[in-house]
This record gives sequence, C-alpha cells and structure tokens, in this order.
Amino acid sequence: MSIPIIIDTDPGQDDAIAIFLAIASPELNVIGLTTVAGNVPVRLTSLNARKICEVAGRPDIPVFAGAERPLLRHLVTAEEVHGRTGLDGPVLPDPQTPLQSEYAVDFIVRTLMDHPSGTVSLCTLGPLTNIGLALLREPRIASRIKQIVAMGGGYFEQGNITPAAEFNIFVDPHAARLVFECGTPITLIPLDCTHQALTTAKRVEAFRTMQNRCGPATAEMLDFFERFDENKYGTDGGPLHDPCVIAWLLQPTLFSGKLVNVSIECESELTMGATVVDWWHVTRRPRNATVIRSVDADGLFRLLAERISTLP
Ligand code: BDR
Ligand code: CA
Repeated sequence: MSIPIIIDTDPGQDDAIAIFLAIASPELNVIGLTTVAGNVPVRLTSLNARKICEVAGRPDIPVFAGAERPLLRHLVTAEEVHGRTGLDGPVLPDPQTPLQSEYAVDFIVRTLMDHPSGTVSLCTLGPLTNIGLALLREPRIASRIKQIVAMGGGYFEQGNITPAAEFNIFVDPHAARLVFECGTPITLIPLDCTHQALTTAKRVEAFRTMQNRCGPATAEMLDFFERFDENKYGTDGGPLHDPCVIAWLLQPTLFSGKLVNVSIECESELTMGATVVDWWHVTRRPRNATVIRSVDADGLFRLLAERISTLP
C-alpha cells in the first residue's frame, strides 16, 4: 500500500524535482500539494505547482494555495536564486487545471481529521507557515500526523540566507517553532545533508539525455538553479535540497542522522531562524527531531534518474 503524503511547497526548481520524484514513485500517494509564499509569492508558487503536476502527467493532483506571508515577519523571497518566475529554466505550458478553491490550511486540517490517525505524512519543502497555521487552527492534528519530513535548517554547515539561518526556517521562524514544539515525529533534512547532494555536470547530463520531457526539463531547471550556488560555493553543481525529503521516504538507508533536540531562534535579529541542534545532548531539551547529517549522493542521483526516466 502506498504512503499518503501532502507536499507543502514553494516551487522552486528543487521543489519541482522533489514533486517529480514523488509523482514517479508508486510507493507514495500524493493526496495534494499545498503552496506557500517563499522562493516567490504564493500566486507564483501556486501556478508553478500546477505546471509541474501537468508536465509530469498528473493534472489530477489537487493544488491548494496557502499563506501569502509569514506569521509575524515580512515575506523574504529568493528570486536571485530561482528567477523572476520562481521556476526559470525550461518553458513549461500554462496549467489547464484550476487551483482548488479551498484554502491550503483548511485542506491540511480536513485531510488529517478525515484520514485515520497516524497515516498521513507531511513533506515540507518551503517555509512552515501553512503547517504552523494548521496547528493553531486545529491542535489535534499534531497527534494525527504520521510524521513531518522537512527540508530546512543547517547546523554544522551554518546558514545560506544569513550566516546563522537557512532560507525556509528564516522566512518563518515563528511557524517553524510551532512545528518543532508540536510533538509530531520530525525528520529534518538540513543543509548539512543537502550540501553533499551536488548537481555535478555529469549528474545533470543523465537527465538531459532522457528520451522523455521531464528528464530534459529537470536538466534545464538545474542549469538555471545551480548557477547561483556554483558562484557562491565554487563547486561543480549546487546543492539539491528538496528532493532529499522525498528520497528519504523512499530509501531512508541512503541517509544517516540522529534523534536530537532542535530549537528555533525567534528573538535575536542577528541569528533569527537559526536551528539550534543539541547534537551532543548537552541540554535536557526533549529529542524532537531526527536530524539528517549525510547522504549517499550517488545513490540519491541514481534514484532520481531511475524514477524521473519513467515520467512522460
Ligand atoms: C531551500 O530554500 C529554497 O530556496 C529551496 O527551494 C529549498 O527549499 C534551501 O535553503
Ligand atoms: Ca523549497
């Protein structure tokens, strides 16, 4: 039986590739995509999410638009990384399927209350605003979510939007704090892991030479997406963040990590959004998240290539 998941996302090229991987994987049942403001405003992330489903041959996956801005802070976006559209690179057709009329936060709450407790997993690829709002609206969902698998944070690798913070957590640290304090089992995929998953020229070529449309589209997205990080880090390729969330669900043995306490900095402007990881258990704070620290990058890209080659 396939695992029911909701993907909460702000596409984003790496979000798009994560969605491709989920759609291409029979082990997963994507019940819906919920969009959030992050890489670009929610109007664009909602448009992009529908384009991605349609190019992957799944216009039937419902897309629900969520929060337009973080809980308390002003929205910070990342057009310098993802381009003006959020999905610069390939030219994808405008979606035929309309956005759902239901608000993403209502959809998340309704789905979790309607499904048997402990069955639905949340995969989060952007700021945690929608999940924070859902927890505020219906606190009972915390014990009904099977697990949250989140891309965000960084500890040993430090931050990418500030020296202390990773983008997804920085954009809405207050929502992240609600999530990390809610008691649901969490697997956190931070920069410590994703910076090992580099989109080297050789790995990107494997997508470019596929005889379908999603393979070359993946390569074109990566060509655009990696240029910013290649300049920044001086590496062959950039880190491929969000697909690690889906890959962890599919093949957890590709990853290793440790169950520790993660607390979110929401007070200091200097370190706002930092994920403070108690790796050596030096506090009595409860162990609330499995923090992933390494990935078998070759295995990850093998999985991606194998699955994306099965898409249209
Ligand atoms: C995260 O921020 C976004 O730019 C990416 O899509 C990813 O989710 C990496 O810090
Ligand atoms: Ca993202």
